[in-house]
Amino acid sequence: MDRGVSPQADLFVYNIGQLCTMAGPARPRRGAEMADVGLVSRGALAARDGMILAAGPESEVRDGVALAPGALEVDAGGRVVTPGLWDPHTHLCYAGSREEEFAWRLGGRAYLEILAAGGGILSTVRATRAASDHLLLTLLLSRLDQATASGTTGIEIKSGYGLSTAEEIRLLRVIRAAAATHPVRVVPTFLGAHAVPPEFRGRTDDYTRLVIDEMIPVVAADGLAEFCDVFCEEGVFDLAQSRAILRAARQAGLGLKIHADEIAPMGGAELAAELGAVAADHLVHVSQDGIAAMAKAGVVAVLLPGTSLTLGSPYAPARELIAAGVPVALASDGNPGTSPTESLQAVLPLAARTLRLGPEEVLAAATVNAAWAVGRGRVSGTLEPGRYADFVIWDVPNYRYIPYHYGSNLAYEVYIGGSLAAREGVMVREQ
Ligand code: NIG
Ligand code: FE
Repeated sequence: MDRGVSPQADLFVYNIGQLCTMAGPARPRRGAEMADVGLVSRGALAARDGMILAAGPESEVRDGVALAPGALEVDAGGRVVTPGLWDPHTHLCYAGSREEEFAWRLGGRAYLEILAAGGGILSTVRATRAASDHLLLTLLLSRLDQATASGTTGIEIKSGYGLSTAEEIRLLRVIRAAAATHPVRVVPTFLGAHAVPPEFRGRTDDYTRLVIDEMIPVVAADGLAEFCDVFCEEGVFDLAQSRAILRAARQAGLGLKIHADEIAPMGGAELAAELGAVAADHLVHVSQDGIAAMAKAGVVAVLLPGTSLTLGSPYAPARELIAAGVPVALASDGNPGTSPTESLQAVLPLAARTLRLGPEEVLAAATVNAAWAVGRGRVSGTLEPGRYADFVIWDVPNYRYIPYHYGSNLAYEVYIGGSLAAREGVMVREQ
């Protein structure tokens, strides 16, 4: 290797059979752009201090960078490398589980009916409020291990199972503590408006005021969340309440996200566009106007097919969204009610089959577009010089195998900031 003026790499990954750089414009991919994975055959990747120096054909990368003394050299063995997955929508900070309710739903009871009767989200609120900080942190960290070992290198985590000022802040502090000890990159989101707690039953406007007047100011002042989200849904928060909450959040300096048109058409997508939300999520019942408004405003559509599968509900109109020029991302929605998983990888084969996304679109949706859906697109989501060295070595013959095969963990090694975080499904911790 050239030892002249070339930058010195402390990590060099070579013998990559297929390298999907996802390189492209510094904005979310839309339309036909989603079919371009920036494919390089026989690739290599060089990094320094956790950032990519070069990623491309092996001969070019070898010529362009020198190796620092003691640099780590990794033989990818002809495997596939992609950017690490970004999971831009999860509710993984909770206690308890809801397999009983799942069985009721299989028997025909509706999700919103169970919630209205005090179950659903509210049963997880009871279990979460009763759990100690230590238990919540332990549970969250073990879920983050699962996520990382399956290829997730960045993840959004929402509060929303506290539903009082003190409890919501407690959950955001647990999320912050988890982020401080776990290698995965964490984006915290405040979701105080996830459901109306029992203390406010029948008084949704009063609870909305509490979220606006008490919770949002504290969350913003303490820097506990980057985004504010609302469950805009029939019988939960209506359009006017959602608008009021999101406006207050924007005023307080938080970015905006929204659970939009998940179970009933509510105008959530239109609201996301109106307020300049970074993303609108679910969109199973999005209207034509909503699609057009999102395309115009550049709102990312975060689709959650694991939730449709679990609820037995229809799937979001992914093809229509892509055809209209809306950037599409994927997320796990990891939560105990509608998507009990930590693995975004598990959602990729589902997305191919149920949303009819091609393999390239699936990868774009779970990397570059997912990073933009949480405001991280400028620093991650692609393997280009200057981005984080967050990537997965997949034990597959080619990248199209990733959404094709399902049911086992295909992530061979997972790197975050240039350090090995997991190998063959197990976290690797520095000694
Ligand atoms: O995204 N819809 C609201 N929130 C979650 C479900 C949370 C729960 O059921 O505990 C969702 O589907
Ligand atoms: Fe959700």
